[in-house]
Amino acid sequence: MCGIIGYIGNKKAAPILLKGLKHLEYRGYDSVGIATLSKKHIFVKKDVGKVGEVSSKLNFLDLKGNTGISHNRWATHGGVTQKNAHPHTDCSGSIVVVHNGIIENYRELKEWLIKKGHKFKSETDTEVVPHLVEEEMKNEKKFAEAAKIALKKLEGSYALLLMYKDDNIIIATRKGSPLVLGVSDHGYFAASDIPAFIEYTKKVVYLSDYDFVTLTPNNFKVFNLLEWKPVRRKIDTISWDAEQAKKGEFEHFMMKEIAEQVDTIQKAVQQDRKIIDDIVKEIKKAKGIFLIGCGSSYHACLAASYIFSKIAKFHVNVILASEFPNYEHFLTNDTLVIAVSQSGETYDVLEAVRAAKKRGSKVISIVNVMGSSLTRESDTFLMMHAGPEICVLSTKTYTSQIALLSLLAYALAENYEEGKKKLNYLWNIIYQLTSRTIREKIKELAEKLKDKEHVFCIGRGLQYATALEAALKIKEVSYIHAEAFAGGELKHGTIALIENGTPCLVFVSEDNKKEILSNAIEIKSRGGYIIGISSKENEIFDSWVKVPESNTENAIVQIIPIQILAYQLAVLRGCDIDHPRNLAKSVTVP
Ligand code: G6P
Repeated sequence: MCGIIGYIGNKKAAPILLKGLKHLEYRGYDSVGIATLSKKHIFVKKDVGKVGEVSSKLNFLDLKGNTGISHNRWATHGGVTQKNAHPHTDCSGSIVVVHNGIIENYRELKEWLIKKGHKFKSETDTEVVPHLVEEEMKNEKKFAEAAKIALKKLEGSYALLLMYKDDNIIIATRKGSPLVLGVSDHGYFAASDIPAFIEYTKKVVYLSDYDFVTLTPNNFKVFNLLEWKPVRRKIDTISWDAEQAKKGEFEHFMMKEIAEQVDTIQKAVQQDRKIIDDIVKEIKKAKGIFLIGCGSSYHACLAASYIFSKIAKFHVNVILASEFPNYEHFLTNDTLVIAVSQSGETYDVLEAVRAAKKRGSKVISIVNVMGSSLTRESDTFLMMHAGPEICVLSTKTYTSQIALLSLLAYALAENYEEGKKKLNYLWNIIYQLTSRTIREKIKELAEKLKDKEHVFCIGRGLQYATALEAALKIKEVSYIHAEAFAGGELKHGTIALIENGTPCLVFVSEDNKKEILSNAIEIKSRGGYIIGISSKENEIFDSWVKVPESNTENAIVQIIPIQILAYQLAVLRGCDIDHPRNLAKSVTVP
């Protein structure tokens, strides 16, 4: 949901920012812009379109100067237009700003500023920021001082980068939206996410809410915006490198990340036993457990509810983070909330966590991004260690989440070592499932489905969660309408849509094969085209995707061929695979 990156140092800024923007494209890609500072002049280029398109049109590389800020937009306030693209400036074009987040009180601020004579050019909430700073500078305030006063007026969430034509500094600040610094031997970076600058440095500084940073070519200083005193932030070295943020031999990040699941499950279950044991104690102690997440992370929670029930005979409530406010009144200081999020920045998840903390509940989270808001706001967190997931669609992190939640269930059932072994062993199956041969076979299936309007997915129990995730993958990347049902439900209405040749993915497991196959027969009798995902072939299948029976680990292995199917469908339909329309990798707005 918008990506920002700034650079200040002794190299030309524009090429560095351009590369950074390409790496942040997963966060938003409807418009793009760069502002640089050179010899007390601010230069701005911005337009609607993706980084590559806009850069060829406007030639970003022309922009002079060793200091600059830039932005990939995912529209929230105001349509997708050149004027609404960032960076935004004050009336005189001397102050320039890029922003990720939402300024909630922008209307009041805008009205106030208009009364003071400010002229607005866009419909965005962001534009109030440069004008507010400009207003403060009228009172003889220096840039940083004026910015400090202006920023205190903002309500809502933000990661902001600001520049002023007469000062060679970048001001970087955050509240509720991600922002991380990069420290290299030739300059400093401030960006929404590490891949933006990983090519230049592995040294990072994770910022906290209300950190106000001044970056110069030679140093950076961090202050607390509210108390206005210096704060110390340590420099961390990250464990992954630029190669992991590149596509390598693959044409798209999506396929690369699907293939990475051979390793990522093992990485996910490599946890500190002591922390797992402590979490298990919390789970046992809790009176009421809520698993929360959004999108694929919610599906992982749903899968986990079946896994907890099956492996540990333990009940957990699963709630969409955005629906959590309806259940908040059940929370006490004996409640445990387990928040699941790849990015650790999803607005609805963070809001749910904050509500839980307010009521004294304990919060444990499962996250992939170190330093993300969720890691700071939870009492304990487990890292997925899946490495950067660049494609907007979740693939490897979905299965890592399930692996980690399964590990907790095994630990709860006092079967930790055995469970870990089972999860570790999955690499073998995943290796086969992601092999070139299987990918080609799935491509043949995709050829048959590529012109269909609808796909239905059914599964019972744990396979219901897989069906939901399968439908989501197909929809979001190939734009084919896909809908999932619990096996017994399709016949309660939607079966009316089954016509000759309507495809239906049927997820079969040993423990429910009788029931799910009878549901498949109901669909086949109305002309449905049955695609079985199972360990054994069956006469009712028109197509068969063979996946070894893996009990509760079916939740991990059965989704993998469908991730590949969704990918192949998108390739055949000419879709933009890593950046599907209208989506963003992390949704930091309500
Ligand atoms: C967005 C992404 C989804 C993701 C969801 C939750 O909608 O496009 O792929 O599942 O957010 O994200 P999180 O980072 O909280 O797992």
